[in-house]
Amino acid sequence: MKMWSGRFRQSLDPEFERWQPSFDFDRRLLTYEIAASAAHARALKGAGVLNSTELIATLQGLERIGAQASSPAFLEDDEAEDVHHFVEKRLVSLIGDTGYKLHSGRSRNEQIATDLRLYVRAALDQVRTDLAAWCSVLLDRAQQAGNAAMPAYTHLQRAEPVLLSHWLLAYVEMFLRDAERLADCRKRLNVCPLGSGAVAGATLPLDRRAMAADLDFDQPTANSIDATSDRDFVLEFVSSLSLLALHLSRWAEEMILFSSQEYGFVHLPEAYSTGSSAMPQKKNPDLLELTRGKCARVMGNAITLQICMKGLPLAYNKDLQETQEPLFDATDTVLSVLPLVTGWMKAVDFNYEAMQKAAQSGFMNAWAAATYLVRRGVPFRLAHEQIGKAVQICLEKHCELQDLSLEELQSLNAEFNQDFYACLKLESVLAIHDVPGGTAPARVRQAMADARKKIESIREDVHAHA
Ligand code: ARG
Repeated sequence: MKMWSGRFRQSLDPEFERWQPSFDFDRRLLTYEIAASAAHARALKGAGVLNSTELIATLQGLERIGAQASSPAFLEDDEAEDVHHFVEKRLVSLIGDTGYKLHSGRSRNEQIATDLRLYVRAALDQVRTDLAAWCSVLLDRAQQAGNAAMPAYTHLQRAEPVLLSHWLLAYVEMFLRDAERLADCRKRLNVCPLGSGAVAGATLPLDRRAMAADLDFDQPTANSIDATSDRDFVLEFVSSLSLLALHLSRWAEEMILFSSQEYGFVHLPEAYSTGSSAMPQKKNPDLLELTRGKCARVMGNAITLQICMKGLPLAYNKDLQETQEPLFDATDTVLSVLPLVTGWMKAVDFNYEAMQKAAQSGFMNAWAAATYLVRRGVPFRLAHEQIGKAVQICLEKHCELQDLSLEELQSLNAEFNQDFYACLKLESVLAIHDVPGGTAPARVRQAMADARKKIESIREDVHAHA
């Protein structure tokens, strides 16, 4: 039986009937639908609609449906309009007409709003767990890198040397922000729509607090109209995922560059690369390219959701059914990518030598050289000009600053002394960036310890909610 056939005289157009159901994709909400239905059943007992025997039969029926759900054949049902209809049909087939009592005082509008909150809550915690593992590997690699140096770029031109660990920590920061955004999103989503009815609130005296507590929500939603039409939590979640995917995409792009022969900073792990069907010598960065490519779908999903919502009058509209697939796709995409990039990061070989070499050429000590003069009282703009001139001489002579003689240097500024050469060494250049957040080795060690703590606190927070 359909959930709404009473007032209809005509049957549905067959094509429309095949086209409008959501069971194909919302079946993945089954466990949440069952949990929410059990909470509602207990509230119905409180409201005197179900007696104890009926409640027990209903809960046992729901439990059996949950247990059978692991078999794909069980979930084949051409007549089920959506997951809500499916559960009602199965319940009735298990416990008879008592099953039809479950829908007393509730609406699918509040059910789907509840199921989706439960889904997003679980997905969000899984993403946070995977993010912690990913950050942890980035950090392990930073720790292994010791004092290895590399060039840092601005405008994609060599700028200043940094520790490889410092550069890895830049990514850790981005992903820690993603984890924090998800934690923040979790706070707002953790309220329970059950008892909101179709739009105006339940028609029975249901204990909303008890239903919320049953499902580990912090409290019931405050307004039934908002509760049944709100998908902010989906948008917030998927927008956070799109930012996370964007970070992954930037990382992938940089790794692709670094793995090219032009940079030669990383050796692609064979386990995550493929060859060319035509060019026998090729090893291609497929994992990285697909990661970059998949970012597009996650961002696309975030935009789809926003456009879907932007013109909706209050409250529930069937358009809201269209918010499910972009949500699922964004979640699946991110959850499939994170473990893979983590594996890649564990497996990749850094070419420390090539990085170090690149960090020591191309005048990346020029700012440090100007700072040498500043410390001797030379106004920075003048020091900048004089080091610029020194660079000019080097360019003509095809050498580096440290190759200039003291006479050559002193012709630019009398303040230059023998100790200048020590300031140009890679270690000194790194060491003078001695501020919190800078690349001086001691600062980076501190930053690694701080990041390790933050990763641990993500894990603890997820664990506390499990
Ligand atoms: N499948 C629907 C959805 O995803 C469930 C809610 C249906 N509500 C309704 N009034 N037809 O939104």
